[in-house]
Amino acid sequence: MPGTCVIGLQWGDEAKGKLVDLLTKRHDVVARFLGGANAGHTVVDGENTYKLHHIPSGILSEDVANVVTAGVVINPPILLQEIDGLKARGVPVKNLMLSDRAHIIFPWHMAEDRAMNQSTADGENIGTTMRGIGPCYRDKVGRAHAIRLGDLIRPGLKEKIALITAAKNKTIASMYDDGSFTPLDADAIYTEYAAYAERLREYVTDSTSYLLDAADEDKRILFEGAQGALLDVDHGTYPFVTSSNSSGVGAAAGSGVPAKFITQTIGVVKAYSTRVGGGPFPTEQDNELGEKIRIRGNEFGTTTGRPRRCGWFDAVAVRYTARISGIDTIALMMLDVLSTLDELKICVAYDLNGERLTNFPSHVDDIRKVKPIYETLPGWAEEITGARSLEDLPANALAYIQRISELVGCEVGVVSVGPDRKQTIFTEQLAMLVGAAT
Ligand code: IMP
Repeated sequence: MPGTCVIGLQWGDEAKGKLVDLLTKRHDVVARFLGGANAGHTVVDGENTYKLHHIPSGILSEDVANVVTAGVVINPPILLQEIDGLKARGVPVKNLMLSDRAHIIFPWHMAEDRAMNQSTADGENIGTTMRGIGPCYRDKVGRAHAIRLGDLIRPGLKEKIALITAAKNKTIASMYDDGSFTPLDADAIYTEYAAYAERLREYVTDSTSYLLDAADEDKRILFEGAQGALLDVDHGTYPFVTSSNSSGVGAAAGSGVPAKFITQTIGVVKAYSTRVGGGPFPTEQDNELGEKIRIRGNEFGTTTGRPRRCGWFDAVAVRYTARISGIDTIALMMLDVLSTLDELKICVAYDLNGERLTNFPSHVDDIRKVKPIYETLPGWAEEITGARSLEDLPANALAYIQRISELVGCEVGVVSVGPDRKQTIFTEQLAMLVGAAT
């Protein structure tokens, strides 16, 4: 049973949506297993560009089931905007299922995210997407003040909202030093969310049972990651991370499908690195070069519009995330962005207080302190957006791909040279694994 998992191996925004969209035609089900409206997945289909936040990137294929699993946190108004936006452009959205176990983001979560601004104990700002993600996951773990999609469509919602609003009004007021917090109105929230519930009801499913049955029936499931493995709450650059397991270890927990059904995992990386929000970024190029990459790669957040920080490819970090995610093959995205650079650098090791490290440090203080040790490779002058096979790529681009593969310790199965589906080169290895060659 080919269960395929797609994981971003950096700090998110690795163009996973494009890859998932390309692979859906070889799968029966796409299951998104974490995160929420902090993610922004862009899928380009000919003239049409779709920006998705919750909905799996397989939604454009009508015969593929798209499942938002228990591990996701749902923001109803944003999800409904996505559904309406797709319908307005002729996508029927009949093939969407939402887990009744998924947690719901409420206005108090957004207020908490704003109030805390997620500053860490040492003062640096996490720079969250302000979508209430952290506070919602915190309530999920805390349990007493959580509401799941299953609760949203059942009797008793009004009482739950009244109780939680009263408690939240007290705690949130104490978080706003300047007294600027306007208490939340439980009745208004109930009226608004009861209306969302009615619109979402048709999609609500016990997705865990659905997926377990699908796995037992040998259906081909594509597990769609969000964010990137370096933002994993347990294994990433903590505390500058998101609030869920965004590396490969999260797929089973979020979906409820045991890891034994995931027979291959594809690690998606950009040909360089980006990060949005705070936190250490050893290979960051906060200079003209970083700006050039930002412009060529259009590196501005899909969800927040924030400019992304840009830098060289970090093979130490990616080797680590490839290992924790159990990667079988690498999808190397946005290689075209590096065209015209005279030379390219790859970080092959870190220097920490004079010691050469090839393992990614576990503590943020060390990640802040490391100095990247680079290997320099020659660049290529020509644009490569028209390349459709490896033979079309300049020798220096092939050497760059080969070196990344060696350093990460994994074959490169996909090379992407532009946003369109056609601008994708599947190497033999991936074609063999998922039969996805175009
Ligand atoms: P949160 O997930 O909104 O709490 O944000 C926590 C950190 O993760 C911030 O640095 C965000 O910028 C980052 N982040 C969250 N989601 C994404 C994403 O989809 N792409 C890139 N960065 C993300």
